[in-house]
Amino acid sequence: MPATVIVGAQWGDEGKGKITDILAEDAAVVVRYQGGSNAGHTVVVNGEEFKLHLIPSGILHEKTTCIMAAGTIIDPISLRDEVEGLRERGISCENLLISENAHVIMPYHRLLDGLQEEARGRHSIGTTRRGIGPTYTDKTARMPQSIRMVDLLDDDVLRERIEAQLAQKNIIIREVYGHDPVDPMETFDEIAEVLDVVRPFVADVRREIREAMVADANVVLEGAQGTFLDLDYGTYPYVTSSHPVAGGACLGTGVGPTEIDEVVAVVKAYTTRVGSGAFPTELEDETGDQLRERGAEFGTTTGRPRRCGWLDGVALRTAAELNGATRIAITKLDVLDELETVRIATEYEINGERHERMPENLDLLAHARPIYEEMPGWQQSVTGAQSRSDLPDEALAYIERMSELAGCEVWCVSVGPARDQTIRY
Ligand code: IMP
Repeated sequence: MPATVIVGAQWGDEGKGKITDILAEDAAVVVRYQGGSNAGHTVVVNGEEFKLHLIPSGILHEKTTCIMAAGTIIDPISLRDEVEGLRERGISCENLLISENAHVIMPYHRLLDGLQEEARGRHSIGTTRRGIGPTYTDKTARMPQSIRMVDLLDDDVLRERIEAQLAQKNIIIREVYGHDPVDPMETFDEIAEVLDVVRPFVADVRREIREAMVADANVVLEGAQGTFLDLDYGTYPYVTSSHPVAGGACLGTGVGPTEIDEVVAVVKAYTTRVGSGAFPTELEDETGDQLRERGAEFGTTTGRPRRCGWLDGVALRTAAELNGATRIAITKLDVLDELETVRIATEYEINGERHERMPENLDLLAHARPIYEEMPGWQQSVTGAQSRSDLPDEALAYIERMSELAGCEVWCVSVGPARDQTIRY
């Protein structure tokens, strides 16, 4: 039963979409296990760019069943927009299934996300304002009126739940945030408009996953965001509200831990972060700007410029352990092509003490001073490299060091956005 987890080893945006797209070629099923429309995958196929937020990148392979599992949350309006966008470009989306148990992001969750961010003032998290936090909060609050995908199948149930939810939420919206209340009927109408597109996708996805596993077909479990945005293991409170770490794949899909035989940690050759929170190797200088420009580091979902910095080997070592990584997939190596020297933080110094791993008390990260190893750059383009032997020695040494820090083998190295710009190691 070959199940493979794809997990981001940094703060998201590692290029998981491209790696999943490659693995999806031989997979019967690709399952997204957490998160919602806060994610962003850019996949390039035959020179055409696809930007996906919610739907797993496996959708581009029509023979692969694409599943949004119970651990995800679904914004029906974003879903409709994404499905229609794909259909316009000839992707049918007939291979998409969504768990009956996935919770629904409602327009008032998006509103609350924005209101909460404003109220946090200088402590704002920098969320994507897609309603992620408020929807997961309702889920864990176990509200009888919470809305799951299955509830979208019945107009009366949906209407009643929206009314019940808003009876409570409008008190908060009005009294706490001083905002105009939300009209339940308008909300219902807004959702009703997309139901024809959304309803056919709702299914018993656990059965689908189980059948694929029993048939010994390849199953890929794809995480969104990254390890250090995990609610428990990330840089709290500057995190998302779900579990991007590999353990989240079991929770989100119902696949047991003993059934996972490969965990591919996707790591960009340098580091980026969007939103607030500690970032020890951040470069607020010309090199940082160069990485942002060359790497096109602007959010797929929000368009925000990403913060950029050197590769953080302390974070990589920690992420590999937290995820039980069996291999790493290195992305965007080509972005470093022009640099004379490249740096990797291999330890932090915090209050006079050296740390090889992220401290459990992540508040300490704010005081971390990275200790760097400097390596010669390769100063030539690697974008056309087809195999390991096409790579310059300096690039090979850099890859080798990344593998040592992660404590596992390299599965592939990506040297450009296209599918064929991928070296299988
Ligand atoms: P939320 O997930 O929208 O609540 O945002 C919480 C934090 O996670 C913010 O710092 C976001 O910028 C970050 N975040 C959420 N999704 C992504 C992603 O796909 N890539 C990178 N950062 C993300």
